[in-house]
Amino acid sequence: MSNKPVFTIDELKATVEGKEILKGVTLEIKGGEVHAIMGPNGTGKSTLASAIMGHPKYEIEGGNVTLNGEDVLEMGVDERALAGLFLAMQYPSEIAGVTNADFLRSAMNARLGEGNEISLIKFIRQMEAKMKELEMDPQFMHRYLNEGFSGGEKKRNEILQMMMLQPSIVILDEIDSGLDIDALKIVAAGVNAMRSEDRGFLVITHYQRLLNYINPDFVHVMMQGRIVKSGGPELAERLEAEGYDWIKEELGITDERVGVEEDEFVVPMNTKAPNL
Ligand SMILES: Nc1ncnc2c1ncn2[C@@H]1O[C@H](COP(=O)(O)OP(=O)(O)OP(=O)(O)O)[C@@H](O)[C@H]1O
Ligand SMILES: [Mg+2]
Repeated sequence: MSNKPVFTIDELKATVEGKEILKGVTLEIKGGEVHAIMGPNGTGKSTLASAIMGHPKYEIEGGNVTLNGEDVLEMGVDERALAGLFLAMQYPSEIAGVTNADFLRSAMNARLGEGNEISLIKFIRQMEAKMKELEMDPQFMHRYLNEGFSGGEKKRNEILQMMMLQPSIVILDEIDSGLDIDALKIVAAGVNAMRSEDRGFLVITHYQRLLNYINPDFVHVMMQGRIVKSGGPELAERLEAEGYDWIKEELGITDERVGVEEDEFVVPMNTKAPNL
């Protein structure tokens, strides 16, 4: 039975420490779709991910976020995870004293709800199987969460969490950074195996290379805290070949970073992903 999620972000505005970072982001992700967000450094991509997940540093100043019609911005951080939102962070946090297995099991049980908890045996079998798929050493089960993990090990561990938690909207923030070529293929295969009508993806990346493995349906470019351009996979290919200057020229942007521009520039507001 398909349970196609619909995730919408409408004119989302957010500040951090009084500085306006997101200036009206609009995007819709449906189950089965993979959206990629690209864009130069410091343009608000990770801020968008954090704001969606309810990171307390980011103040929402306007706009709406909904998952299956439910108001996400009204939900607490835990409730967002329970509702099926998942973020693989650009810089995953280390938590000393909590093992990877403990963390995952409580997260899974919270999502499954009281009375539906997974048995320890079943959990361990599942975790072992997923770790094998990701070619992770079994010792990672009992290590403290991300503590002393290499960059690539952290990224793989984020994907392990995604595979175990079976979220309905997955945000991957630079999941490719720090991965060697083989690890990139393994991680991408893990993501591709999770693609289904029950799940939508938002993949933040700097490189077309990742998108060769995880083929996006839509590609968006973020500058100055907004999505300034949307297209299909060909947009990522053009960015790889030509960089961002042509977009900046097209839109009359001199500095693409957020918070450094003096004059507001005008971008088309129809930033919803086009039907290709
Ligand atoms: N917690 C914070 N405190 C202060 N400034 C912040 C914070 N979070 C984000 N910013 C600022 O907001 C801007 C956008 O940052 P963000 O991390 O969203 O960029 P990004 O597009 O993800 O860049 P990158 O491609 O380098 O990861 C930057 O100027 C950053 O310094
Ligand atoms: Mg970032």
